[in-house]
Amino acid sequence: MTKLRSVTLNEKAQSLCELPILSGATGPDVVDIQTLYQQTGMFTYDPGFTSTASCSSAITYIDGEKGILLYRGYPIEQLAEHCTFLEVCYLLLNGELPDTDEIQKFEDTITLHTMVHDQLTNFFKGFRRDAHPMAIMVGVVGALSSFYHDALDIKSKKDRDLSAIRLIAKVPTIVAMCHKYSTGLPFMYPQNKLNYVENFMRMMLGTPCDEFSPNPVLVRALDRILILHADHEQNASTSTVRLAGSSGANPYACITAGIACLWGAAHGGANEAVLNMLEEIGDVSNITTFINKAKDKRDPFRLMGFGHRVYKNYDPRAKLMRDTCHEVLTELGLHDDKIFKLALELERIALEDQYFVEKKLYPNVDYYSGIVLHALGIPSNMFTAMFAMGRTVGWIAHWDEMIADPEQRIGRPRQLYTGAAKRDIPPQHIKRA
Ligand code: ACO
Repeated sequence: MTKLRSVTLNEKAQSLCELPILSGATGPDVVDIQTLYQQTGMFTYDPGFTSTASCSSAITYIDGEKGILLYRGYPIEQLAEHCTFLEVCYLLLNGELPDTDEIQKFEDTITLHTMVHDQLTNFFKGFRRDAHPMAIMVGVVGALSSFYHDALDIKSKKDRDLSAIRLIAKVPTIVAMCHKYSTGLPFMYPQNKLNYVENFMRMMLGTPCDEFSPNPVLVRALDRILILHADHEQNASTSTVRLAGSSGANPYACITAGIACLWGAAHGGANEAVLNMLEEIGDVSNITTFINKAKDKRDPFRLMGFGHRVYKNYDPRAKLMRDTCHEVLTELGLHDDKIFKLALELERIALEDQYFVEKKLYPNVDYYSGIVLHALGIPSNMFTAMFAMGRTVGWIAHWDEMIADPEQRIGRPRQLYTGAAKRDIPPQHIKRA
């Protein structure tokens, strides 16, 4: 971080105020307002953090205007083509891509941690069978902290690394268990001879009665989906993880906070909402009606999978997801899939519509991911849990970066108070002895 120059603020400030401007490796400069209150007695006001950098970070960079996404400097397109998800996990956690020995060791370590404590299975029995899998995830991932007292010293890098491994290894097992529980099928134990994604597919889609032979094209597709979801700088759930972690909370509690935040339809819940929306539209002939609903300010309907706080251009992940969608549907002989055709046509019409052009609303990562996941045999109520599985590494990388930062302090935003001024309790409410 480089200090460039200072800006002066004068108008309502009680005195002349000097604020440094900081420059990162790339992207817009930031005004460092840490001394603003001290100098002027004023706070800044930025609901939704549209102009606020909440931290400095060296993990992921997004240029929303140009549609660029880099993990540790590497373009997402190159990572999706040349790397596996576990290589990307290593990169996000350690800053560099692993060599052959390093990835072998990393994969072996992850594999050794994929089983969950057998007692954890009891937690599932407390949930209704029809509970949403994200509700179960919030409960069960949170419960992990009660099993790992051996490594919860967040000041110890060794403990933090072990927590990272445990979370990346166990979350797929828990996601699969959520699905099995809701369908009444037996939980599947992980198998060490399978790779990360094969293992997950077997636990999720297999049964103890049959051999499960994962299709390599589908395995690669799911691996790529996880890469595309692995990190996205200071998004709502990652910022939630950071804020929860800033108090010194344990990593399992922090990741659980991230899962809870991700669940919302404006964030990770959108992939499920997209498929529901496409099913509701049903036919190409109904597209104009739904586009008009999305444009009507009196109608709360939004085109799900469209728009993004940061991307004002095509989300690079959506392009890769569309290609993956083609590959998967072709492999499964579903290239004439009605929903995919509908999605392509809806995208084409929206991108030519003045409303979407002017507001720079493009498809985001969720637009095509639901169609791919559906084709892979994942039920739509599991889509957001799949997103959480991919994003766990991003959350933990940010949590670790924050804890290791010597300048780290508890996150504590201020407010613009709009409530009642100080007043006394009226006489009729005063209790007499
Ligand atoms: N359909 C119709 N209009 C939209 C849409 C949409 N999908 N998205 C934004 N707009 C309009 C808004 O109505 C608003 O119009 P106005 O300026 O006339 O009031 C304008 O575009 C800006 O929208 P905001 O909601 O202010 O933008 P914000 O950055 O706060 O929200 C968000 C971004 C939440 C992603 C929004 O675009 C949205 O709701 N999209 C649909 C849900 C979705 O796909 N979420 C997934 C996000 S990606 C992810 O989390 C992985």
